[in-house]
Amino acid sequence: MKKRILFVDDEPNVLSGLQRMLRSMRDDWEMIFVDSGPKALQEMAQRSFDVVISDMRMPGMNGAELLREAMRLYPATVRIVLSGHAEHDLVNQCVGVAHQYISKPCDPDQLKSMIQNATIISGKLVDEGVKRIVGSIESLPSAPRLYTALEAALKDENSSMQALAEIIQQDIGMTAKILKLVNSSFFGLRRTIENAQEAVNYLGIDTIKGLVLVNGVFENAHPLSFSALTLDDLWAHTLSVANGAKILAKVENLDRHLQEETYIGGVLHDIGVLVLATQFPKQYERVTELVRTEHISIPIAEQWEFGVTHADIGAYLLGLWGIPASILKIVSLHHRPRFTQDKIFSPLLAVHLADVFCGSHSGNTLFEASSLDTTMLEAQGFSPHLERWRTCIDEHSIN
Ligand SMILES: [Fe+2]
Ligand SMILES: [Fe+2]
Repeated sequence: MKKRILFVDDEPNVLSGLQRMLRSMRDDWEMIFVDSGPKALQEMAQRSFDVVISDMRMPGMNGAELLREAMRLYPATVRIVLSGHAEHDLVNQCVGVAHQYISKPCDPDQLKSMIQNATIISGKLVDEGVKRIVGSIESLPSAPRLYTALEAALKDENSSMQALAEIIQQDIGMTAKILKLVNSSFFGLRRTIENAQEAVNYLGIDTIKGLVLVNGVFENAHPLSFSALTLDDLWAHTLSVANGAKILAKVENLDRHLQEETYIGGVLHDIGVLVLATQFPKQYERVTELVRTEHISIPIAEQWEFGVTHADIGAYLLGLWGIPASILKIVSLHHRPRFTQDKIFSPLLAVHLADVFCGSHSGNTLFEASSLDTTMLEAQGFSPHLERWRTCIDEHSIN
């Protein structure tokens, strides 16, 4: 089925430029071009879109307002901001609302691959099974308060690292958890980090936000009502995968930004397990039994029981919270990286490998059932490196 993409820009020249630039995609995408926010919402009311790409500065309803409304009404549509120079004020309003940003004038290939990646995610986000499951959750977990406060502060250009650190420090429990992580042997620091500001400077604000998010979600979760899986098991698995994935990202010389993306992807990769296991305990207990008795992996057992997997549910939830598409892609595809076009070592591949290699590190046999996406690894020429990567993780892991 063709993916449907909506472009919104008040400048006729920009719209016709985009139309020309993307003509070669006509067979794959149905593209609709409109010149205002209200017209975009009219289109969205009539049919569902996989992706909406909007200009920021427009008369009447600006791009931030449009995307906020799109997020509320059509959360499954991937939201991309197309912004000109010197629009930082408006772009900042989109934090937590847009999945991805691209600046004008844009490179055709970059735009095409960004939309392609976005449609991979949205294909899952509009999945009827996901909608059914999410629709039956009475109150969908919301992003933790501290996370929202950080997002709000980040919108303000004047807020310094110190201001962000002060916000974190107000939550004593969270600060303690973050310091414990930073000072764990994994980060290999020569000295002890003693406060939130040093942690922010050292780790970068995106990693801190990922940690705040996942810590908060775990903190708010009720203990699981069955014994085959505990929150502590899941937390231990999450951290060992995040650490293992970052080790691989370092070894493969991904740049600092991609290393950070890898770590956050690792931290968030199984958030869907938490959602399914806490919201549907009886069904999830059956999932754990199926894994044990049928010797199948967690996602296959979930597919049998729910018709969807924790990867779908996790990506959907994080999409609702406005997490960037690059992270959604990791969460959505961590068991099936073959669904991307990536030909080089990527954060997604790092998380996929760490998830399988660290399966036995968390002390719960459920996680040992994950298997490598051998078709993809073989096809992309990664197979000869597997043993080296496995040894690397075994040698450096903190468990
Ligand atoms: Fe998983
Ligand atoms: Fe996992």
